Amino acid sequence: MYKIVTKKELAPKIKLFEVHAPEIAKKAKPGQFIILIVSEKGERIPLTIAGYNAEKGTITFVFNEVGKTTKQLGLLNEGDSILSITGPLGTPSEIRNFGKVLCVAGGVMIAPMLLQIKALRNAGNTIITIIGARIKELLFFEEEMRALSHNFYVATDDGSKGYKGLGFLKEVLEKEKVDRCITMGPVVMMQNVCEITKSFGIPTIVTLMPIMVDGMGMCGVCRVNVGGETKFACVDGPEFDGHKVDFDQLIKRQRLFLPEERLSSLLWEQLGGCRDGRK
Ligand SMILES: Cc1cc2nc3c(=O)[nH]c(=O)nc-3n(C[C@H](O)[C@H](O)[C@H](O)COP(=O)(O)OP(=O)(O)OC[C@H]3O[C@@H](n4cnc5c(N)ncnc54)[C@H](O)[C@@H]3O)c2cc1C
Ligand code: FES
Repeated sequence: MYKIVTKKELAPKIKLFEVHAPEIAKKAKPGQFIILIVSEKGERIPLTIAGYNAEKGTITFVFNEVGKTTKQLGLLNEGDSILSITGPLGTPSEIRNFGKVLCVAGGVMIAPMLLQIKALRNAGNTIITIIGARIKELLFFEEEMRALSHNFYVATDDGSKGYKGLGFLKEVLEKEKVDRCITMGPVVMMQNVCEITKSFGIPTIVTLMPIMVDGMGMCGVCRVNVGGETKFACVDGPEFDGHKVDFDQLIKRQRLFLPEERLSSLLWEQLGGCRDGRK
């Protein structure tokens, strides 16, 4: 059992958990993820590691309550335990001195991007950061990001804070000579970033989040097409060269079980949604 030592609500439906998991905390690196099971009858869900502290024996992750399991998870409190956590999984990010790195993060993925930025800064990089969300209320970690960035921008889909949309990215890239771009967030956002960076010839790394089951390269559920080759996001990734990813196929595969996911969340809520998943 993995005890929750800290719980924070960062934005509506976006929660941070710091959990006692000493074995994972010892080995975790930026870019890796865990798979957790909330309770005995629970589903396995992957979440990106957003922090780790080997001395305290804790790991941190931030999640968006989008469906049944993430809603169940959000009902747990400090002192409660999560049944199972497997990790660290996936290939760690490449961290070295690239020069000037543009980091573009959207939504809940702002959290793991902060971990990447800390590591990239420690490696001597100059950091330009863009964080974005649908509306200003869903932004978080702004001050932490600003403090670690040489240049910092905010964007929202509705323009309620900072730039409206990502159109201004072209202007940023015309001003700054960027050596590498890293982007994490909704697929459509990463796809848009890749289209723009491709026209500037900037190598771009994306974090892919297809549906996963075992997270260990055995079930094949997480397959993605990168440069015409089939890759398993859980072991070959989750980070890939964004200019080679078949985003249209990824979007189609992510939507494969949407009716079932909606039904499962609805039924669980109608039955009075409880945290151990029995209802
Ligand atoms: C490597 C990886 C890292 C991730 N990191 C984070 C993170 O740090 N924070 C976060 O909030 N979310 C993260 N996700 C997405 C998260 O796993 C899903 O939101 C979660 O599984 C949804 O479960 P649910 O039962 O609450 O919702 P569901 O009802 O199952 O689904 C709601 C939505 O989530 C997507 N989804 C469902 N199951 C999975 C799955 N097994 N893998 C990926 N997507 C799925 C569906 O396409 C659907 O759009 C990550 C996914 C992957 C693959
Ligand atoms: S999740 Fe099974 S192979 Fe990747």
